[in-house]
Amino acid sequence: MTVQTSSAVVLRAHRTDVTQPPSSLLEVVTLPPQEPAAGQVRVRNLFQQLIAASGDLMFETTQIPMPVYRVGEPVYGPAVGRVVESRSDDLPVGTVVLHMSGWREESLLGPGEAFPVPDGVFPGPEYLLNQGVPAYHGMVNIAAVGEGDVVLVSGAAGGVGSMAAQIAKARGAAFVIGIAGGPEKARYLVDELGLDAAIDYRNEDLDDRLTELAPDGITVFFDTIGGSQFEAALRHTAFGARFALCGTLAGQVGGGDGGHPRFDIMTALVHEVQIRPFSTKHTPEQIQAWNTHYARWYAEGRIKFAQTLLEGPLQRAITAMDELLAGVHRGNVIVRLSD
Ligand SMILES: NC(=O)c1ccc[n+]([C@@H]2O[C@H](COP(=O)([O-])OP(=O)(O)OC[C@H]3O[C@@H](n4cnc5c(N)ncnc54)[C@H](OP(=O)(O)O)[C@@H]3O)[C@@H](O)[C@H]2O)c1
Repeated sequence: MTVQTSSAVVLRAHRTDVTQPPSSLLEVVTLPPQEPAAGQVRVRNLFQQLIAASGDLMFETTQIPMPVYRVGEPVYGPAVGRVVESRSDDLPVGTVVLHMSGWREESLLGPGEAFPVPDGVFPGPEYLLNQGVPAYHGMVNIAAVGEGDVVLVSGAAGGVGSMAAQIAKARGAAFVIGIAGGPEKARYLVDELGLDAAIDYRNEDLDDRLTELAPDGITVFFDTIGGSQFEAALRHTAFGARFALCGTLAGQVGGGDGGHPRFDIMTALVHEVQIRPFSTKHTPEQIQAWNTHYARWYAEGRIKFAQTLLEGPLQRAITAMDELLAGVHRGNVIVRLSD
């Protein structure tokens, strides 16, 4: 078979400051023809997902527990694609797979690197490109959200937050409040995702709104932002509240107020707040638990795939990464690379 060249996004230099836009350090290059070795498949990518963590992985070192991107090499991230050449008995040509070697038109994948996308469960394979695993792990295993809870989610219009807030609703929480930037995102959370209320942190006072929406305090806080939003959540905590700390976007992106909130120990101890930071390992059990519930809740109409779908080519993924960190998009940000 004649294999054509394909394109990939490589890192030109490490990021040194969170205010640097990722696009200034990424470029599309043409790769030589790639042929699968025994056991490998060649996959034509259909969609790729952008995640905020990619901005961290561009630094020379990061605390994010994933391998950093290396200068001069293709970067990676979640994608789905179709097998176009196979030297694997398990993955014949035509199989659609989920994998982590995105940011390129084509990927060579070996055993254990490609996971078939089930047929007929969702409208398209891109529905598998979501941040549900950490959202489910944090909401269910860490915060133990359930009936009667008054839940606050920061970054609720983002990739993880949009799924976390809906998981809380699906688990029967009494009242779910999302925090997001701008009136359009706040409306989206209530009108489209079915949250009970939303706070636009760019235009509204967090304390005023939390006093109004949760007069008896919040019992669960799922935090992807940190900074002043964590501090506000602690001021409005109910006794015994569980805080599932997922991310610190306020420190990961430019223009934020830092990922290191002041921690009011007195309030935390008087209210016996359970502060539970977590780092999702994406174990087979965690992935299975999310996929099972996602498929069921989606079929029952209790959860939506919150997404922004952008049209490729790869160059578009680079500019979209800047936009993701600037809060331009909502939900899981997906780029279509081919049909
Ligand atoms: N612990 C774990 O296991 C785990 C796993 C996966 C991801 N994470 C973390 O979870 C967090 C969310 O990840 P994600 O991929 O879902 O990101 P994301 O929410 O898609 O990130 C982009 C969002 O960040 C918000 N943002 C940008 N600048 C901000 C600022 N200065 N202050 C407050 N918000 C700002 C924007 O929303 P607005 O427009 O609403 O401001 C934007 O839409 C990240 O910290 C990530 O590293 C943790």
